[in-house]
Amino acid sequence: MKKILQIINRRGIFNTIRFFYARYRFLLKYRISVSKILSPQEVGVTHPYANNYEAISHFSFNRIIRQIDWPWDESTFVDFGCGKGAAILLAEKFNFKRYIGIELSPQLIGCCLGNIRQYKHDLLPRTNLVIGDAAFYKISADANVFYFFNPFQRPVLESVLQNIKKSLDEFPRKIIILYFNAVDLDLVLDFGYRIILEEKVDKITLYGFGNYVFTNS
Ligand SMILES: C[S@@+](CC[C@H](N)C(=O)[O-])C[C@H]1O[C@@H](n2cnc3c(N)ncnc32)[C@H](O)[C@@H]1O
Repeated sequence: MKKILQIINRRGIFNTIRFFYARYRFLLKYRISVSKILSPQEVGVTHPYANNYEAISHFSFNRIIRQIDWPWDESTFVDFGCGKGAAILLAEKFNFKRYIGIELSPQLIGCCLGNIRQYKHDLLPRTNLVIGDAAFYKISADANVFYFFNPFQRPVLESVLQNIKKSLDEFPRKIIILYFNAVDLDLVLDFGYRIILEEKVDKITLYGFGNYVFTNS
């Protein structure tokens, strides 16, 4: 009871209802728990810079993406550290041309594939799931929406941003970066990206850092 009162105190009644709804909606719909945080060890990952697994809240994802004017249906969505596929399942509503998920944990990517197969079967021909370290993932020329939900620590993020830059140098295009719980916001800015949406506090999830959208134009 004390814990619930604390949650209400921090968020207010309205956001508390949304907070609990966000926790159980995925669970009911896709059997993905938003409240269950798994350590790298629990998902079979030993990488020194891997962060915990946690599914994105649908409120946060939808709220941010709906504020951006962008031709989603002509775009390729890349989820760095796709976990069980919560973001890919949510992105499906925006009808992307293609979905790419990169994940270190074979256990989680198996779950992601299972979820897409079971709940969004139509996505399979347009989805490419890759097991491996995002730091070494070569960015394809069509990739233009890059999504991060605080998946890894700075050295990996830096390599990924370098790889995106390399791809942009080779195939110039307009891109968007969606960065939730943006621990290394300064690093993205150092790469010259411009903030087009800033949410310093996520009032429902209360992630430790804000949510941001960047572009290169
Ligand atoms: C916070 S979870 C985000 C899950 C999913 N993107 C979502 O929004 O629901 C971060 C994920 O990144 C994965 N990860 C950590 N380091 C990675 C790396 N170097 N390459 C690929 N995936 C990584 C973790 O295993 C974890 O599943």
